[in-house]
Amino acid sequence: MITIDWQNLRDLAAEAAWSSYSPYSNFKVGCAVLGEDGVVYTGCNVENASYGLTLCAECGAISAATLAKSGGIVAIVSPCGRCRQLLIEVSPYALYDNGFQTVQVLDLLPGGFRPDDLV
Ligand code: THU
Repeated sequence: MITIDWQNLRDLAAEAAWSSYSPYSNFKVGCAVLGEDGVVYTGCNVENASYGLTLCAECGAISAATLAKSGGIVAIVSPCGRCRQLLIEVSPYALYDNGFQTVQVLDLLPGGFRPDDLV
């Protein structure tokens, strides 16, 4: 049983935001996810002159957790809509806490597109 320290996740996400490359929006975003392995993985947004190629902070954190073979994600702070779609495939039962309530990632995107929908 992994204990989720939400404040630690928020602190690490805030720290990761300092590494953000966001010269176009000037909006620094950091993300922290807790892996099934008990390790926290972080990411920051990386913008691009061809705006659409921008990587969200969540992409970096999910990629880091995947690369490290974390076994999935237990908890995350701050997923945007696009990242919710990524997350429901990687770890649908991961928890998300916005400071008021804790819900599953699946609840953040009702009716989201799932692998089963490809058939
Ligand atoms: N952004 C993220 O990294 N994650 C979110 O959840 C929301 C938006 C980034 C993308 C872009 O670099 C900047 O925030 C402004 O949209």
